Amino acid sequence: MINGKKAIGRSLRWGMVGGGGTSQIGYIHRSAALRDGNFSLLAGAFDLDAQRGRDFGVALGVAAERCYPDYETLFAAEAAREDGIEVVSIATPNNTHFAICCAAINAGLHVVCEKPLCFTTAEADELERLCAEKNKIIGVTYGYAGHQLIHQAREMIAAGLLGEIRIINMQFAHGFHNEAVELQSESTKWRVDPRFVGPSYVLGDLATHPLFIAETMVPNLQVKRLLCSRQSFVATRAPLEDNAFVMMEYDNGAVGTMWASAVNAGSMHGQKVRVVGAKASLEWWDEQPNQLRYEIQGEPVRIMERGMGYLNERALADDRIGGGHPEGLFEAWSNLYHRFAQVIDATDRGDSAFLQDFWYPDVHAGLMGVRWVEQCVKSADAGAVWVDF
Ligand code: NAI
Repeated sequence: MINGKKAIGRSLRWGMVGGGGTSQIGYIHRSAALRDGNFSLLAGAFDLDAQRGRDFGVALGVAAERCYPDYETLFAAEAAREDGIEVVSIATPNNTHFAICCAAINAGLHVVCEKPLCFTTAEADELERLCAEKNKIIGVTYGYAGHQLIHQAREMIAAGLLGEIRIINMQFAHGFHNEAVELQSESTKWRVDPRFVGPSYVLGDLATHPLFIAETMVPNLQVKRLLCSRQSFVATRAPLEDNAFVMMEYDNGAVGTMWASAVNAGSMHGQKVRVVGAKASLEWWDEQPNQLRYEIQGEPVRIMERGMGYLNERALADDRIGGGHPEGLFEAWSNLYHRFAQVIDATDRGDSAFLQDFWYPDVHAGLMGVRWVEQCVKSADAGAVWVDF
């Protein structure tokens, strides 16, 4: 159970790049990192507009002289202080992630970075290499992967309760961009411009989330090959897709599908993962995150509720309020930051025994998402053909 006790007995000195006052995702980074006292927000380059970023940082309680105009100044000035930051979160548009991650690690910082980690497998490989060379970690914020019921599913699948895994059915299909909302919304405008978002829109922005949740639930399955078809229903978004379907084959003979969409009119979020085994299936849906459906062939459906004593130990370790009360996105993110603090501390102490089996969305998870998007785009642009993963 998580009860607010600091996971590592101290607070990590923490900074942010991006996540400014008008950003979509900055607040949840702060809520998650600050919730359990494992991080103290001491510095930042919060906004592309330096003055706005400084005003916002001060309003958050950060000292004015530690609100910097850009990330280069942030990293250099903090490295020169004895009490400089140890870890930075990067919550900026996708085109900046690679350069900021490299600069942060080279400045001696651990990193928490938004997804997708970068644009190409070559860049992701470089980040993985850099982490190993400098003994730093990159945690990637696949937020819902920190929800306790995802880990309940992982343990049940590992214990063989589903039998051999045959099918993984994934989707993240919301309806918010069924029209050209980017004409009014700054946060959507860069998402449909390849200069800022890279080679894909919904594959990278949405599909990487359920893809990683499925990888967390069934870690031993490797994608062997995939086929992707992508569409731009709002034509001005081409060549970027606002809808995509992907079929996958895994190395054990299992198959998977992914539906990623921003034009699923009427859908609030529509992120679901269903794992089908030879005996039973599990299904989790982010619009009802406190329930996990466990369906055994020939028996009534069981709805497993978050926080209940019948869950496994691993799931209950992430419990914050017990059953009955809802937990959701904020708690799942807090659980991730709780883990990032522990892995940073263990890395600094060189505690390889701790790190060996410790789960968190790491730089390799970021790399897998980037490679998957890259291969999907390759398949779709070749006319929806099978490509090796
Ligand atoms: P946004 O456009 O709403 O906000 C971006 C923020 O970064 C703004 O405050 C902007 O001023 C600042 N910024 C941009 N470039 C900067 C730079 N070079 N230096 C300092 N600040 C800079 O974008 P949003 O929606 O918050 O997305 C940011 C990142 O978070 C993206 O990579 C996106 O894919 C990811 N994201 C992840 C989610 C998740 O569930 N993990 C959900 C939503 C977004």
